[in-house]
Amino acid sequence: VTPLAAVSTDPPTPAAFDAELLRRLTTRVVGRRRELESVVAALAAGRHLLLEGPPGTGKSTVLRAIAEEAGVGFEFVEGNAELTPARLVGAFDPAAVLSEGYVPEVFVDGPLLSALRDGSLLYVEEINRIPEETLNVLITVMSEAQVHVPRLGRIAAAPGFRLVAAMNPFDAVGTARIASAVYDRCCRLAMGYQSIDDEALIVRAAAPDASAELGAHLALAAVHVVRDSRDHPDLRTGSSVRGAIDMVLITHELAGLRGLPADNPSVTLDAALLALSGRVRLREGSSRTSEDVVEELWAAHFGPSDDDEPAADAVASGGRGKA
Ligand SMILES: Nc1ncnc2c1ncn2[C@@H]1O[C@H](COP(=O)(O)OP(=O)(O)OP(=O)(O)O)[C@@H](O)[C@H]1O
Ligand SMILES: [Mg+2]
Repeated sequence: VTPLAAVSTDPPTPAAFDAELLRRLTTRVVGRRRELESVVAALAAGRHLLLEGPPGTGKSTVLRAIAEEAGVGFEFVEGNAELTPARLVGAFDPAAVLSEGYVPEVFVDGPLLSALRDGSLLYVEEINRIPEETLNVLITVMSEAQVHVPRLGRIAAAPGFRLVAAMNPFDAVGTARIASAVYDRCCRLAMGYQSIDDEALIVRAAAPDASAELGAHLALAAVHVVRDSRDHPDLRTGSSVRGAIDMVLITHELAGLRGLPADNPSVTLDAALLALSGRVRLREGSSRTSEDVVEELWAAHFGPSDDDEPAADAVASGGRGKA
C-alpha cells in the first residue's frame, strides 16, 4: 500500500505475512514479540493455527490486530453451542428455493464458505464450545481444503484460506471435545500471562486517562493484586489483566464520586471488590468467600499497613476533595 512497496526488492505477495506486518503488529500489541513472530510465521507457511490460553491473555487482541494490519480478508465467528453446521457453512434460502429450486444463486454463504471462496482467514473464537458436528466440518476442511455441501456441490479453498481458532483450556464447557484430530491438523500456540511490566503497559493502554490521573504507583498496585490472585491458595482461577483495567477505571470514578483521593482505602477496596470478586473462582471446598480473598489480596498492596501511604488518615478525614 505504501509507495515504498513499489521499490521493494521482494516480489509483491498478495497476503504479506512478513517482517513489515510484524513491525506494524508490535505497535498495536503490547509485548508478545515471540508470539507475534510465531503467528505470522505459521500464517506465512499457510498453516492453520490454534491459540490456547486463559481468558484475557490477548488472543483476540493479537488476531484482531492481524486482521486489520495484514490486509487479508477475515471472517469472524463466535464459537458457541448454537453454531450449527448450517450457520457456519451457509444454507439455501427457503423462500427462494420454493420459487427457484435448489440453484446456487439462492444459497446464502455462511462465514466458512465466504472464507473458502475468498481465500480469507476464518477466525473461530472459543472453538471448544462449538457442537461436535460443526467441529467435524472444520476438521474436514482442514484436511481436504474443501467442503461438500449437499445440492450445492464441492467448494474448494482459494489460496490464502486458513483457520485460526482460539480457546481457553480451563473453560469447563466442552473442552474435552477438542479431539486429537483438530490438534493434528493445526499448529498450536500457548498464550500465557504476560510479565508484570507488560501488564502494567496494557492497563495504561486500555485506561489511559484513569491511569494518568491515578499515577503509575496505583495502577501498578492493581496489577500486583491481579497477579497475586493467580496463585492464591484459595483460588482455582485468578483474574486476567481485565481485572486490573477495571480496577483502575473504577478507582478513578469512585474517587471522583466520593470526593476522596484515589488512594483512599475505601475507594481502592470497593474498586477491587467490584473489579475482582466475580472474576476469581474459589477452589472447591474453600470455606472463604471471594470478597474475603479479594480483600486479603487488596490489603497486601493497598492496605493501611502499606508504609508509603497515609491511608488511615485519609479514611478519617473523609471528605478531602481531589478537585
Ligand atoms: N498484549 C496485549 N496488548 C494490548 N492489549 C492487551 C494485550 N493483552 C491483553 N490486552 C487487553 O486485555 C483485554 C483482554 O484481551 P483479549 O480480549 O485479547 O483476551 P483473550 O485472550 O481473547 O481472552 P478470552 O479468552 O477471554 O477471549 C483486551 O481488551 C486488551 O485491552
Ligand atoms: Mg478472546
